[in-house]
Amino acid sequence: MAMREHDVARSELRWTAVVSAFVIVTMAFTLFAALALHRNPPSNLERIDPKTLHLSGEFTESNLGTRVEANGQVTTRIVATQFTFVPRCVVVPEGQEVTLRLASPDVIHGILVTGTNVNTMVVPGYVSQVHTVFRSTGDLLMPCHEFCGLGHSQMLARLRVVPREQFRPDAQGRASCGPE
Ligand code: CUA
Repeated sequence: MAMREHDVARSELRWTAVVSAFVIVTMAFTLFAALALHRNPPSNLERIDPKTLHLSGEFTESNLGTRVEANGQVTTRIVATQFTFVPRCVVVPEGQEVTLRLASPDVIHGILVTGTNVNTMVVPGYVSQVHTVFRSTGDLLMPCHEFCGLGHSQMLARLRVVPREQFRPDAQGRASCGPE
């Protein structure tokens, strides 16, 4: 018993409507998440030459760690390298927006700060940037979470969150964990 052409067309139209509705709902959720909840894929596309990043510019050793810019913005710069983070400990103030900027001179590393929403890959050739606010004080572990070689499991650093009144940058705006 063959379907009549009319029935086939109706069936196809019904499926077109179902699929269109699904696509529209999915797009609406995506737009809602992006615009209202600010959930976006990493979009900070910023290149840096992994071969020379230690020689000049932002990621030279003397510029690493936490620094308060002239406008009050707190920026922490870290180099992820086989098999350590430089510096091994960084200090940040509680309850204030902090920008983490990371770069790698060798292979892909990953960084996360335990108990927070900080979690990003560090890919050679690009600067990884995360904005966050740390809500409680204390030392947080910051391990590498991307297998990067034989020393991967030893690759970790600490992030120290201190109350605002104990966060005292020096005259150049720099703050460090101090002698260990
Ligand atoms: Cu660096 Cu694993």
